[in-house]
Amino acid sequence: MIVERELEALFGQLAEQGFSMQDGLLPPELIEDLYEEGLRGWKDGLFQEARVGAAQRPQHIPAIRGDTIQWLEPHCGESGAQSRFLDWTETLRHQLNRAFYLGLQRSEFHFARYATGRGYARHLDQHRGQPHRRITLILYLTPDWRAGDGGELCLYDPRNPEKEWRRLLPEHGRLVLFRSELFPHAVRPARRPRWSVTGWFRSDEPPHPN
Ligand code: OGA
Ligand code: MN
Repeated sequence: MIVERELEALFGQLAEQGFSMQDGLLPPELIEDLYEEGLRGWKDGLFQEARVGAAQRPQHIPAIRGDTIQWLEPHCGESGAQSRFLDWTETLRHQLNRAFYLGLQRSEFHFARYATGRGYARHLDQHRGQPHRRITLILYLTPDWRAGDGGELCLYDPRNPEKEWRRLLPEHGRLVLFRSELFPHAVRPARRPRWSVTGWFRSDEPPHPN
């Protein structure tokens, strides 16, 4: 496996368990700029309620999925953080393909904001209508997240989805990657607004513009 030095630990865990976590991999300025751009988008009314269900008929059911989202776009936002992050994910996509032969052709990422009291019930990211999501990436943005703030990401055992396997705090700068088809997971209700960038590396081609 030929990967850049800094990704070795991340990819080692991913190879072994289909899941990996690393703190402080991305530059702190990038995390801060992303958080600022997320806040700006939120204040400017650019976020929309996230939906669940098949791609053809998505529904807004806040008791199941409580975040609001804004899709990242290159060249959007004043600080260029979205472009910088998307450039970094492109490098990561190539590295993932080289290491795991996943045939990842594209990716998609959104800011996610969970308001106080909101969470996301247990689910798989590769649900109906989304078979091409192969790797889930989550980067947590909220400064100073404490244990009492809740909002943990819970991962369940792929062989026994009733059994909790890991519970992680969404700590500032923490990066999580996992195989989208393997891990049922949930977000526990947050006690303060909880911010992340979340998205997927996909094995299908970009949709054709008409
Ligand atoms: C998702 C999701 C987990 C998290 O957006 O699909 O499961 O910790 N997010 O934000
Ligand atoms: Mn998910």
